[in-house]
Amino acid sequence: MTTMTNTINGSNLDLSIPDLIAKKRDGHELDAEEIKQFISGLSNGDVQDCHVGAMLMAIFIRGMTENEICSLTMSMRDSGERLKWPEYRGSVVDKHSTGGIGDKISIPLAPALAACELKVPMMAGRGLGITGGTLDKLESIPGYQTQLTDEQIVEQITTIGCGIFSQSLKLNPADRYLYAIRDVTATVPNNALIVSSILSKKSIEDLDALVLDVKYGSSAFMKTAEQAEVLAAWLFKVSEMLGMRTCCYITEMNNPIGFSIGNAIEIQESIDLMKYKPGHSTDLEQLVCEQGGRLLVLVNKAETIEQGREMIRETFKNGSALKKFHDMIIGQGVSKTIAAQLISDDETAVRSILKLAHVQHRAIALQTGFIQSIDSFKLGTIVQRLGGGRLKSTDKIDYSIGIHLLKHVGDEIKTNEPWAILYANDDTSKRYPKFLDDLNTALHISSTPVGPLQRIHKILC
Ligand code: URA
Repeated sequence: MTTMTNTINGSNLDLSIPDLIAKKRDGHELDAEEIKQFISGLSNGDVQDCHVGAMLMAIFIRGMTENEICSLTMSMRDSGERLKWPEYRGSVVDKHSTGGIGDKISIPLAPALAACELKVPMMAGRGLGITGGTLDKLESIPGYQTQLTDEQIVEQITTIGCGIFSQSLKLNPADRYLYAIRDVTATVPNNALIVSSILSKKSIEDLDALVLDVKYGSSAFMKTAEQAEVLAAWLFKVSEMLGMRTCCYITEMNNPIGFSIGNAIEIQESIDLMKYKPGHSTDLEQLVCEQGGRLLVLVNKAETIEQGREMIRETFKNGSALKKFHDMIIGQGVSKTIAAQLISDDETAVRSILKLAHVQHRAIALQTGFIQSIDSFKLGTIVQRLGGGRLKSTDKIDYSIGIHLLKHVGDEIKTNEPWAILYANDDTSKRYPKFLDDLNTALHISSTPVGPLQRIHKILC
C-alpha cells in the first residue's frame, strides 16, 4: 500500500485511509498524492465502501479546492485505460451536456463534426431520472451496439470519424465505483464530485477541445441559472487545467428541446434535421450549429462562430452529416438495409423502423392566447412513467413511448386546439390515466404575445 507522511498531527506515521478521511472531515486540503492513494485504494482493496461513503460525505460538506478537484479528476482518469489519438492531434473534439428533456443535440452533432473532418470519440450516458440518455435513444435503432471494445472505438474513429458509445469496463472504473456510492449516500449534487466525474470521463478521450452544456431549469440538475453558473465556472477552469480548450454554455431547460421527447421519436427528429427536412426544429438546429460551430472555432477550423455555425448547417443541407450518420450506425452494428432505409426519403420505412406506440392521445389547449412555456419536467415525467425511461436501473425501456409537440413557445393557440400528441400503449394508458390528464396542464398560455425562447443564458470561453 502507498503511504504518506502524516502532516496533520506532526508525527512521522504514515497516513492511513481513515486518516485521509479525517483530514478532509476537518477541513484540510488533500494533496495530489493523498488523493491518488485514496483512488488507487478503490482497486487495490485498501478502500472499502464504508470509507468511500465517509470520504464522499466529508467532501460534500467541506468542498474541495481547485487543486484538489484537478487531482481527483486526474486520479479518476488514470484509474483505467485511456484513448490516445496522436495522429489526429488538433482535431479531436466532444461535447457533454448535463442532461435535459428532448436533448438530442449529440445525435446530429457528432456526424456533422465528422463531416467537417473532425474526430469525435463520444462516450455518452444513459437516462438519469427523467432526463433521457443518448445511448438509450440510439438503441431504439435495431442492431445499434453501444458497447464497443477499445479496438472497435479506434477503428470507428479512424475510418468514419465519429462514434457514440458507452464507457467500457476498462475506462474510468473509479467513476463507476464512486458514482454508484454517491447515488446511495446523498452525495450526488456536489460541484467538486460532479466536475471530477464529468471531466475524468471526457479527459479519457484525449480531446483537443470540449464544449460543455450546463443546463438549468425545472427539469435540469441545476434549478437556477446562478447554480448553473457556479458549476460551469468550475467545469471551465478544471477542463482548461487538464489541457482541453473549453467552452461552457449555460442553457435554459424549463422547456423541452425541439419537437419530440422519447427515444425512437428523438431519433426521428435528429434524422429530420440531418435531412434538412422542411419543418424540422429550428430550436434544435440552432443549438447544434452553435455548439458544433464553437468546436470548429476552438480547433481553428473556423475563424469565427458565424463561419463555424454555417459549416455545420451546410453538412445538413448537403447531406454529408446524414451520410456520416449512416456510416456511423453501420459501424456500430446496424444492418446496411436498415441504415439505408433510415436515410431514405421513404417516411413509411423510417417510421416502421423507429416505431411509435399505437395509442395516440391529443393534448388540447384550455384557453386561447400565446404559448408562454411547456413544462418539460411534466413531459419528461410522463414519458418516463409510461415506460420511456427507467425508475430502477434494471428497468427495460419502451422505445416507442414519446411525445410530439405540435407547437413551440411563442406560437398562437386557440381553445381546444391540439398542441401535443402522446404515443402510448394500451396497457400503459390504462395503468396511468393520471399522466394523460397531466399532459393538458403542462401548457402555460399568456393572453399577450410571447417572444421566441432564448435558450443560451451565458457562454464561458
Ligand atoms: N454526470 C456525470 O457524469 N457525473 C455527475 O456526477 C453528474 C452528471
